[in-house]
Amino acid sequence: MPTSHQQNIPHDIAAASDYRRHAKQHLSEAVWHYIDGGSADEITKADNRTCFDAIKLRSRVLCDLTGATTESELLGQSLAYPFLIAPMAYQTLLNPLGELATVMAAGAQDIGFVLSTLASTSIEDVAQQYQQSQSSSPLWFGLYVQTDWRETLSLIERAQHNGYQALMISVDAPVNGLRNREQRAGFSLPSDVCAVNLINNNQDRIDYNQYKNPVLARLQDSAPTWELIEKIINFTSLPVIIKGILDPQDALKAKAIGASAIVVSNHGGRVLDGAISSIDALPSIRQAVGQDFSIMLDSGITRGSDIFKAIALGANSVLIGRVVLYALATAGPMGVAHALKILKDEFELTMGLCGAKTINDITEDKLLT
Ligand code: LAC
Repeated sequence: MPTSHQQNIPHDIAAASDYRRHAKQHLSEAVWHYIDGGSADEITKADNRTCFDAIKLRSRVLCDLTGATTESELLGQSLAYPFLIAPMAYQTLLNPLGELATVMAAGAQDIGFVLSTLASTSIEDVAQQYQQSQSSSPLWFGLYVQTDWRETLSLIERAQHNGYQALMISVDAPVNGLRNREQRAGFSLPSDVCAVNLINNNQDRIDYNQYKNPVLARLQDSAPTWELIEKIINFTSLPVIIKGILDPQDALKAKAIGASAIVVSNHGGRVLDGAISSIDALPSIRQAVGQDFSIMLDSGITRGSDIFKAIALGANSVLIGRVVLYALATAGPMGVAHALKILKDEFELTMGLCGAKTINDITEDKLLT
């Protein structure tokens, strides 16, 4: 097992989001704003929280919970709990072990993990770490389509060859959001952190700052299209999940081209400020695609009760983002494992107090609407 600069779990952590204030103390100002920040005025980032908070749970008492379980299935894989760690870039910014720490914690907690194309650890090393944990939870690859088709194919082949069981393609960030907070703090990647899986490994998605050409011209040149995603779906034998859907028409299109699932997401409020919160977008998307199509959701989840609310409104499972990074920055793999355990416990508690014995029992009537 790799070693890390071992950090202890602070005594005053009770909720996963408690890691946020500790993380701030462990990081440089620029990295803090990169991780914590949203786009522009951060209205969407704030909405991601307030919209969850506005949903009320229906408390039920004296329910028989014998045989209750949090298990479910997603794309033919079993989930011990209905959440996975979201694909997130450059995790060695936060801890020397980076993605190895996160996947180690995921394995220990029996939680699925999605590795970003912009990871600072190799596809191969993460797969090896995952295999050591003997986890049966999902290990998926989060694909950013590259301008060079051969590089996209090579990423897919490496993921498949190394045992990743699905591709999650992020389609909502063909251009960087207006990351005003990180701009003000002067964020740039330190020289020892890069996207090691890419040939040109400091390549990021189109940065609207760095090109003389107008943004739209750059987008026309290199942003992926539905046709390209369909080509990938036809090329790979892995299930493809399209991440970053907020519109029912786009959800229907994803289903029509053969995606296995979608992620309703506004990228943690990091791309288009003013976009709808993911949880508000979810019900009409579920209604559009019908009951049999798999939907995941992310953006704003910090509590087990948020996971419950998302499932009640139509998600099959969710992705957990920033709180994992805060825990990683604060206490390395132990911190991430701890944050995941807190979310598991909170989710179970919410199920119990709302009278849901199984994931299938988490339906809209468990909410006050
Ligand atoms: C971000 C990109 C890398 O949100 O996904 O920073």
